[in-house]
Amino acid sequence: MSLTAVPSAPQFEHRTRADRVLGLGSPAPRLSWTVTDASPDFVQTAYEVETTRGGQVSTHRVSSPDQVLVPWPGETLASREAVSVRVRVAAGESWGPWGPVATAEAGLLSPSDWTAAFISPLHIGAMDAPAPVLSRRFTIPRQVASARLYATAHGIYEASLNGRRVDDTVLAPGWTSYDHRLRYHAYDVTHLLQQGENELSALIGNGWYRGWLGYLGKRALYGDRLAMLAQLEVTLVDGTVVVVGTDETWCARESEVIEDDLYNGQTTDLRRLDADLPTSPVEVVDVGVARLVAPEAPPIRPLGTRAAEAIWASPSGRTLVDFGQNAVGWVRLRVRGLAAGQEVRVRHAEVLEDDELGTRPLRAARATDTWVMAGPDEVVLEPSLTIHGFRYAEVTGVPLLRAEDIDMVLVGTDLERTGWFSSSHDLINRLHENVVWSTLTNFVDIPTDCPQRDERLGWTGDIQVFGPTALYLYGTAGLLTTWLSDLAVDQYEDGRVPHVVPDLERGGSNDPAAAAWGDAAVLVPWQIYQATGDVEILRRQLPSMRAWVDHVTHLAGPSRLWDSGFQFGDWLDPTAPPESPGEAKAASELVATAHLVRSARIVARTGEVLGQSDVASQYGTLADEVQAAFVAAYVTPSGRLMSEAQTAYAVAIVWDLLPTPEQRSMAGRRLADLVRTSGFRIATGFVGTPLVCDALAATGHLAVAHRLVLQTQCPSWLYPVTMGATTVWERWDSMLPDGSINPGEMTSFNHYALGAIADWLHRSVAGLAPSEPGWRRVTIKPQPPITLAWAEARHESSYGLVSSRWERSGGQFLLEVTLPAGVTADVWLPGHREPMVVHHGRHSWSVVDTTLPSGSTDFSTSGIRALIDDEATWREVVSAAIDVGVPIRDDIHASSMMAPFLDLPAADVVDVFSLLSHRRFGPEDSSYRDIQELVLGPDRSFR
Ligand code: BGC
Repeated sequence: MSLTAVPSAPQFEHRTRADRVLGLGSPAPRLSWTVTDASPDFVQTAYEVETTRGGQVSTHRVSSPDQVLVPWPGETLASREAVSVRVRVAAGESWGPWGPVATAEAGLLSPSDWTAAFISPLHIGAMDAPAPVLSRRFTIPRQVASARLYATAHGIYEASLNGRRVDDTVLAPGWTSYDHRLRYHAYDVTHLLQQGENELSALIGNGWYRGWLGYLGKRALYGDRLAMLAQLEVTLVDGTVVVVGTDETWCARESEVIEDDLYNGQTTDLRRLDADLPTSPVEVVDVGVARLVAPEAPPIRPLGTRAAEAIWASPSGRTLVDFGQNAVGWVRLRVRGLAAGQEVRVRHAEVLEDDELGTRPLRAARATDTWVMAGPDEVVLEPSLTIHGFRYAEVTGVPLLRAEDIDMVLVGTDLERTGWFSSSHDLINRLHENVVWSTLTNFVDIPTDCPQRDERLGWTGDIQVFGPTALYLYGTAGLLTTWLSDLAVDQYEDGRVPHVVPDLERGGSNDPAAAAWGDAAVLVPWQIYQATGDVEILRRQLPSMRAWVDHVTHLAGPSRLWDSGFQFGDWLDPTAPPESPGEAKAASELVATAHLVRSARIVARTGEVLGQSDVASQYGTLADEVQAAFVAAYVTPSGRLMSEAQTAYAVAIVWDLLPTPEQRSMAGRRLADLVRTSGFRIATGFVGTPLVCDALAATGHLAVAHRLVLQTQCPSWLYPVTMGATTVWERWDSMLPDGSINPGEMTSFNHYALGAIADWLHRSVAGLAPSEPGWRRVTIKPQPPITLAWAEARHESSYGLVSSRWERSGGQFLLEVTLPAGVTADVWLPGHREPMVVHHGRHSWSVVDTTLPSGSTDFSTSGIRALIDDEATWREVVSAAIDVGVPIRDDIHASSMMAPFLDLPAADVVDVFSLLSHRRFGPEDSSYRDIQELVLGPDRSFR
């Protein structure tokens, strides 16, 4: 019997479908495929991989149910070797048809493959001089069969053949820890070559290598000389290979780009295009090729354009443009009729302030592109050696700017979108959309804190809290894998992790160990493993993971408490003053020690996954000891914490640090009360934000979590949405309610960290969560807020599309689930005590909707806590109280005033109001009876 199950074209390593696989760095790339059209009872028992290499076909049969990151079959690939691969799968004895072919080509896998040498111009291209172009003319004697260019630079380069760009990659080679790892790219340039004369050239900009970098106002951190390495390998129809590599025969000339910097922008003098510009010989510079590495992720490219939504004159008479979305890239401008020598200038900003460009948050980044015109002919102005984070632009020097002449060009790593969420709630949808934008725009080659100011750095803490969300939304595993290699090589000898990776000081930063930031060394590999099932990332990073935990263990000493030294703590807790973002409510030693337990536990589990029982037991014991010390120092026998902060309770609950169920349930109650008495507004920073809703839900306070998530007052997740945000803000109040920019000197409007809540929307609201690494098993368990009518989440996992959609309809709860072959789901229907286990296919259920409250609360028998939880009633009670002069501002303020009275009967609320008003408040007061009726219902009166 033959099978219908068809595998997809295989994927190599984490190179996504958006990626053209050329220059593969792994000689034995692991393969993954998805299976479509599988009959309901299909279970893969074997697979066969067919490889075609140099005309030789071979097949490799493996008895295995695996389809994700399976080992490379057969011989390893040689440098430059091309391979076509396809797969078919079997269930028992029956084999399905072959799937489509995927091809890949290995890069230059050994340093000895490089015959070219790094070259640098001798007399031009100095620090403040125009960007140089390095070039070489050469002759191709016969017709070309195929050609590859391998290239990299100290600086950023844009390579062209015969005046045409080799591909649309920009800002190559991207940013790695250059001293240890410098990426090269491979390009197929067959179509750009001609028989006869050719010219290979490259414009070199400062980029990360020599531009301004970091918030300390420094530049040229890696060196003050730009350099280029290029090796063009041309195979002619007769099989001869012509190699044109960078060497001393190349020459250099100045370009029209007279200034370029990632932070400051680019200045281009178009008059120089026709001028006789200074030239210079080049020299070979002593730069080894041993640290060259192939890409593990897609390159940076223009990803699309956005039209101007509005163009207007600001109060000071400047021309402003709104692109309707805060994003990253540059402006493309078409101009004509301008005099030679006239300047056109574009400044960028994320927000407006006082109706002008709000550039203060950019700090030292000038974010300005300037052109000096060559004459009246129409030209398209577009930089390429810089990048800006902006929604608004200010254009000077173009009279009567028309919308059709200006676009925003989005630029970023060409990541594949893999995750979606939507619901019946518009504000939540916009919040999610903002998280998606903040992900895309902060993955410019490395995971950055923000994309606009003089920072844009690989802050470890930020990606550590955001990792699971990023891995759901986009195919970020390859990019993060590469970044972790940089983390490992930049890690200090003693195990400390620099706060930003790549390390700005090239290993010399001497950053003190900081919990939640340094823990990225342990948590990010674990997150990649969870999201993709990649065991190798754990093997690769284990020494780095252990080194971090060992260092912190040493800092903690015999007490096992990490309670001294520097900490960022629960960074940006909303109560921290603008100028002191680390002054959080949660005690930093509690947060730090909790991180040590968590990281030690994960290293222990990594040991188990890798079959290294010594590692598992060493770190398991350590985790137990630190946890016991944590409990002894910070937890009371009843389950209260020494730090009465939401984040403290959230880490203790979610990371399972409390020894008894009673303590856990007390902690949950306390956390819920803290949320209630903050008026259901957020009170967590970087650490607690991804955890607080899970902590509430896990301890039976789901409705409280929903109030927090649906809150629109500041601070909350939805407050920025109500203020028109189109990306996630760095601070809960980056923009204050009056529209002014937060006075803190650290105020970005595009920081993904607080957007980690999206992960909870996927898992809890839509109910789609992985329960085994790589989504091999999933839990479908929607826990919907009562105000939502429907929600759905979809994720393109390594196995294929997994989705969950629920909807309320006429008292019924409809659930639809899609699973790809290879994935098993535990589906929890509302009201059911046990999950149903289902396999691939589309499934749907309709059950009685038990997720809605069955009736209204009887406040005559409940407490003030329940009264506060009933949003509508509480609002009315508070407004009646305000009418009779109780000194409370609103329901939020009133909730916080109730903190000491939560356990009183609801009817006592009038006594509390009297107490707050310093007068007896009774039936003679007009609203007294309203409150009485609201709380006790009609026909009953207070004692
Ligand atoms: C960055 C953060 C980072 C923090 C830590 C900031 O300047 O933008 O997101 O984690 O510093 O100090």
